Amino acid sequence: MKADVLLGLQWGDEGKGKIVDVLTSKYDIIARFQGGPNAGHTLEFNGIKHVLHTIPSGIFHPGVINLIGNGVVIDPVIFEREIIDIKALNIPMSELLISKKAHLILPTHKLLDAASEKAKGKEKIGSTLKGIGPTYMDKTGRNGLRVGDISAIDFKKRYEKLKQKHIQLLNFFDFEYELEKLEKAWFDSLETLKSFAHIESEHYIHNALKNNKKILAEGAQGALLDIDFGSYPFVTSSNTITAGACTGLGIAPNKIGEVFGIFKAYCTRVGSGPFPSELFDKVGDQLAKVGNEFGSTTGRARRCGWIDIPALKYAININGVTQLMMMKADVLSGIDTIKACTHYELNGVKIDYLPFEDNEDLIPIYKDLKGWKMDLMQLKNLSLAPKEVHEYISWLEEVLETPITIVSVGPDRNQTLYR
Ligand code: GDP
Ligand code: IMO
Ligand code: MG
Repeated sequence: MKADVLLGLQWGDEGKGKIVDVLTSKYDIIARFQGGPNAGHTLEFNGIKHVLHTIPSGIFHPGVINLIGNGVVIDPVIFEREIIDIKALNIPMSELLISKKAHLILPTHKLLDAASEKAKGKEKIGSTLKGIGPTYMDKTGRNGLRVGDISAIDFKKRYEKLKQKHIQLLNFFDFEYELEKLEKAWFDSLETLKSFAHIESEHYIHNALKNNKKILAEGAQGALLDIDFGSYPFVTSSNTITAGACTGLGIAPNKIGEVFGIFKAYCTRVGSGPFPSELFDKVGDQLAKVGNEFGSTTGRARRCGWIDIPALKYAININGVTQLMMMKADVLSGIDTIKACTHYELNGVKIDYLPFEDNEDLIPIYKDLKGWKMDLMQLKNLSLAPKEVHEYISWLEEVLETPITIVSVGPDRNQTLYR
């Protein structure tokens, strides 16, 4: 058996959480493989809207195993809040397992994130300030603390040692902070983290595949925020791409099956960094308003623009996407002419790929496509959609050379159309 991977192809918030929830009934295990509480994955069903940060989006399907993999970074305080929020819904929750090798976000990691962003001033990354960058820095610097360390007798000592290192680093910044309360909350919340099974998740995954269990690996962020291939330095600190599922769960590359690439019918970005097809006009405002484009984690307004074909092709190639899923098609309703960026102009030259100079002023070159008026949110079958919707989908499939198998027309589970 091979594991399938689902991930975002743009700058995050494509609607991964919704589609994982929709697909969960076909799987035995849903596993997060990277990122941490910088993610905000929204699910909607039976009138309930819920946002998950660390917990996989299969959690509302009893009988399914949800796994937080070794590649994820966990803030115990946010994790505890997520558990409390889920329990408050009073609906059955499925089993949750946590890798012993997942790294812990310390209170001082969050302070370092904030201090670093403040020092960068106008050049700030626009981090979610969840301590993601500093935690992955300690992981690769070989200083980090992991979930499996919590039960060690010298855990407190090791925590203190890392904290002291962080305090020294914080002294380099012009940054005031108050640590005591944060620390108390952090240690208190460890109790909730301890109440879940901590496992050697790579063994668990190997055995599951051997026993023909179906696994879906759930990505966070998006390909254009990948530490290697995103618009560096305006990226996150993990590999958000299919390869991240291999390192973040211990799945061998030849054990990857389908790769589901999720994208919005247009494009959004939250935080700083280049966005060639960004809109600063009324249409951009309309996309933001109709699409309710506010960050699920930070509440920040998302920047909106037209779909970017060279960037999508890049993401499809790097991830080995086998199926595309187009989200938020409903948001384009009522726009007379939909534009799609097919090329860029770089230093006066027309190019059809995303170049190294992705932080320069790439001038988008657009193709016009005919829009549609019909509200798609009530649609029960894609065949009933206006012909312009079909034309848009067919054109995208042709230029992206990949089939679009799902079209989403609203946030609810049921607003999902299959092709
Ligand atoms: P994720 O991080 O990729 O899981 O995406 P987010 O949850 O951060 O953001 C996607 C937002 O769009 C959420 O508010 C979803 O409820 C919403 N959403 C998902 N699919 C659709 C859709 O097809 N149409 C509309 N209008 N909203 C959608
Ligand atoms: P999901 O999983 C959208 C962005 C931040 C910032 C940059 C670095 O919900 O799609 P970080 O906190 O990782 O150091 O921030 O990455 N970012 C996201 N944008 N969706 C996300 O996750 C994001 N996670 C991080 O806005 O620009
Ligand atoms: Mg999100």
